[in-house]
Amino acid sequence: MTNENSPQQIAQSAFTLTKRDDGIAILSMDVPGETMNTLKVEFGQQVNDMLDQIQSDSSIKGVVVISGKDNSFVAGADISMLASCQNAEDAETIGKGGQAVFQRIEDMPIPFVAAIHGPALGGGLELALACHARVCSDDNKTQIGLPEVQLGLLPGSGGTQRLPRLISVQQAMKMMLTGASVRPKQALKYGIVDDMVPRSILLDVAIEMAKKPKFKRKPVKLDLMGQFLERTPMGRKVMFNQARKQTKAKTQGNYPSPERIIDCIEIGLEKGIHQGMAIEAKHFGHLVMTPESAALRSIFFATTEMKRENGVEGIAPKKLKKIGVLGGGLMGGGIAFVTATKANLPARIKDIRSDGIAHAMKYSYDILNKKVKRRFMLHSDMQKQLSRLTGSVDYTGFDNTDVVIEAVFEDLALKQNMVADVEEHCATQTIFASNTSSIPIGQIAANAARPENVIGLHYFSPVDKMPLAEVIPHDGTSDQTISTTVELAKRQGKTPIVVKDGAGFYVNRILAPYMNEAAEILLAAEPIEQIDLALVKFGFPVGPIKLLDEVGIDVGTKISPILVAQFGERFNSAPGFDKLLADDRKGKKNQRGFYNYVGNKPGKDVDESVYDLLGITPNSRLSENTISERCVLLMLNEAAMCLDEGVIRSPRDGDIGAIFGIGFPPFLGGPFRYMDTLGIKHVVERLAYYQQQLGDKFTPAACLTKMVEQNQSFYR
Ligand code: NAI
Repeated sequence: MTNENSPQQIAQSAFTLTKRDDGIAILSMDVPGETMNTLKVEFGQQVNDMLDQIQSDSSIKGVVVISGKDNSFVAGADISMLASCQNAEDAETIGKGGQAVFQRIEDMPIPFVAAIHGPALGGGLELALACHARVCSDDNKTQIGLPEVQLGLLPGSGGTQRLPRLISVQQAMKMMLTGASVRPKQALKYGIVDDMVPRSILLDVAIEMAKKPKFKRKPVKLDLMGQFLERTPMGRKVMFNQARKQTKAKTQGNYPSPERIIDCIEIGLEKGIHQGMAIEAKHFGHLVMTPESAALRSIFFATTEMKRENGVEGIAPKKLKKIGVLGGGLMGGGIAFVTATKANLPARIKDIRSDGIAHAMKYSYDILNKKVKRRFMLHSDMQKQLSRLTGSVDYTGFDNTDVVIEAVFEDLALKQNMVADVEEHCATQTIFASNTSSIPIGQIAANAARPENVIGLHYFSPVDKMPLAEVIPHDGTSDQTISTTVELAKRQGKTPIVVKDGAGFYVNRILAPYMNEAAEILLAAEPIEQIDLALVKFGFPVGPIKLLDEVGIDVGTKISPILVAQFGERFNSAPGFDKLLADDRKGKKNQRGFYNYVGNKPGKDVDESVYDLLGITPNSRLSENTISERCVLLMLNEAAMCLDEGVIRSPRDGDIGAIFGIGFPPFLGGPFRYMDTLGIKHVVERLAYYQQQLGDKFTPAACLTKMVEQNQSFYR
């Protein structure tokens, strides 16, 4: 169908305009030297020039906007440009610039059709929304969304105005408030795109659409309630009030952008698109300058940077072809899953019980089957992924594994035996990676014949969801082993940080004093709900007592003595918690913990009998601020010591580790960025204050005191 016999090409850096004989021009975007297209400020002028060309050529009857990249339409705006903004007005100008270019596209007298294959996110979707029609490929790589909220921003180039006018307001709002993208089928269902076709005919279909001067769109279908909520002034009032309420409950008021997004949508719908655009640019400008957005953007930059880094600079990882997993339990099942489905590598599982292997297989099956049921995945793709998982109760199939990840019981002698087994049954270069949560890797490697191949690779539960992995070399681990292990974790979809061997590594080491303090506060009779609420309001996803229930009270008490043995008294756990274990309270896993897990609201209410067991009568005396400050200060202090001792390589790694491993509030940017925001002097003063009140565990880290003397900060 395509007819490109005599294309006249006008190339202009990222954009190429190809005129066809049938009057349709193809405007293709291909940012030179980059794998993904992103929008940059300087493109505004280039697009304007292209639009001038198009307007001055009356033989052009329609335009298809497409990407010249293999697998990306436009992945968003290049957010690094925001760093140069000195104030909100600068940022508002950027937003207005984007709005103006896209408005020009919308105002063009001939049809513009976006042909989308690959991610069309943020500014990429806003570009497509400014076109008169959209068609996308049905490919898995195609994703459509407005993720700006995840960076503390809002869609600033007309997205808050055009999407709610195109599809259901509630759906548009949901997409903008969560930042979640949708797949092609959903995009078609919601009405974001007008058609979905196989990639092979995407361009042809878009060309045909561009030949129709007036594109007829099916109206959005709403049920009666939807019509009331979206199409009557009173209904809209109810809808926006409800959205504000739900947003506040979710963000605890810590994230400014969702409320601004709701404002933009409401003002646009009530007062017209002109005012909607004006408020969108204004709010965008304001949000760019907020510390919350700066922190969220710093996380984005850090993770992007980390994706490019080798475990050891200059040491390339070895090629990975097959992975072994020892132990098919909770962690082994998850590790096998990310190996087969994210890294796309065969995973051979060994357990002593065939039940263990069946468990690991089922772990993957259950997750994938859910996707198939929700039609996010083809049954054949599920089978392909599952076929990468095989298992046995002996070491057959292990001889050619590149890395064996061990996730057997937490027992030093057992783990040392695993090292010996792998050395016996696998190749001489096979890496042995232990997922121990608390045993120093040096001890696991103590009897190894090839200690250079032994390393820690610490995942977090649930493995398929938690984004962090700690990679822990011991003194004798080779650089090659480090780089290859980091590469494996990255391929499994994790953000790995390399940390020094030692009790608790990094994440559990900074978590322990925080949890201990929460326990201390509880034993001083503060109600459990009050403690958890204080830290949820601070920005953690769950409070510390609830977290203890989720991780397992037994697990928590196992790590404590190891930390005390290495670092001394400041890690002493609160006395009295042994009574919980004596009462068989392990937490959520055996439905007996601090919260009540039986009945119709499992985990919602506190199990009051726990107070009797601990011998306390709950009585709220401390403010929420005091509770959160005491717990968080100890975490910050410990993180500073970890950096000073070289447990982590940089403040950046420490921030990412705490956010991705513990859920440290992302809007604060991690413990180090947060200390910078508070001021190191303030942190030291507050620690010293509590040291006087509550004892030496609050002694400010020597490195922090030194930083105050030298007027230093972690980043600036
Ligand atoms: P689990 O009890 O669910 O699974 C352990 C599995 O290992 C069982 O299926 C068992 O049959 C198998 N196993 C025992 N001896 C074996 C042997 N000689 N060869 C092969 N398989 C053997 O335990 P889970 O929770 O999966 O923990 C495994 C490891 O991961 C532990 O070292 C734990 O400390 C660590 N870890 C656990 C986390 C958690 O949240 N559960 C988080 C991070 C690390």
